[in-house]
Amino acid sequence: SWTMQSFITKEIARIRELVGDTAQVIGAVSGGVDSSVAAKLMHEAIGDRFHAILVDNGVLRLNEAARVKKTLCEDLGVNLHVADASSLFLERLAGVEDPEQKRKIIGNTFINVFEEEGARIEGEVEQQGRGKIEFLLQGTLYPDVIESISFKGPSATIKTHHNVGGLLKDMKLKLIEPLRELFKDEVRALGRLLSIPAHLVGRHPFPGPGLAIRILGPVTREQVQILQKADNIYIEEIRAAGLYDQISQAFAVLLPVKAVGVMGDKRTYEQVIALRAVQSEDFMTADWFAFPPAVLRKISSRITNEVAGVNRVTYDISSKPPGTIEWL
Ligand code: XMP
Repeated sequence: SWTMQSFITKEIARIRELVGDTAQVIGAVSGGVDSSVAAKLMHEAIGDRFHAILVDNGVLRLNEAARVKKTLCEDLGVNLHVADASSLFLERLAGVEDPEQKRKIIGNTFINVFEEEGARIEGEVEQQGRGKIEFLLQGTLYPDVIESISFKGPSATIKTHHNVGGLLKDMKLKLIEPLRELFKDEVRALGRLLSIPAHLVGRHPFPGPGLAIRILGPVTREQVQILQKADNIYIEEIRAAGLYDQISQAFAVLLPVKAVGVMGDKRTYEQVIALRAVQSEDFMTADWFAFPPAVLRKISSRITNEVAGVNRVTYDISSKPPGTIEWL
């Protein structure tokens, strides 16, 4: 559309003017729509002087780091650094069950790792005589600006959303937020104009604390792997059924209970997966998605057959309110 095309032209000019001829910019990417669109826009404006950083926190979806690398780096040409900090995150999460505690640990560790990676890039860039890192890119949208990036959680408490505000102070960076006047559908339109692949532009939101808030008990590498496999089957089957775009958000949850089952002539005692899929306008309220039964049947059969450690699958039929979209 005329508005978006002229938005791109203007925004690129504004970024170039702001950043100047030598300064470098860093920014976190997650594989989601907002950070990818912001990164691509920045790349269009200043090329390799923009350094995208993906922090692998050990609680991403199956093969997510590799997928983000493929799309951002190979398809879109963005200069991407992957910081694999999964061991550090999982160490710090060990034994923690409280959801807010999980969020805090992940938020703080994210900042530590991002800062460290930023400092490493700064060292590299300086050695090459290419100027200093002076700016931080954030894919903040207009609704985030109004709601100051917080989420209403269960029992009316606020789920704390990690942000990189501390970086601005510690690294003395100036903030660039090219999307701060846009709504989600405008960001999607912008993404399409910037040739970002359709599967990325239409992606469901994924929370910063990742699978850590979808594993209801303590987070271990084994629990993460079980959930990753189940979640991947679920999303694969939703896509195969052509339902992905009708759903606002879908994901699997790993419950901290064991149930009895049967396999061959043996009794099993294994974990339970809960499936969640909701339709929502603004994520403040949501309704559960009415799957065709055959789709649920296929998903359940694949998960119980293919994911070792799971013998039972349930479907969450709670709306928001009173439930939230996430279980934690
Ligand atoms: P709830 O569970 O509060 O979720 O109904 C509403 C939307 O917010 C997402 N969400 C989060 N996103 N960090 C995030 O980046 C968080 O801590 C967080 N908690 C919930 C959730 O996935 C849904 O889209």
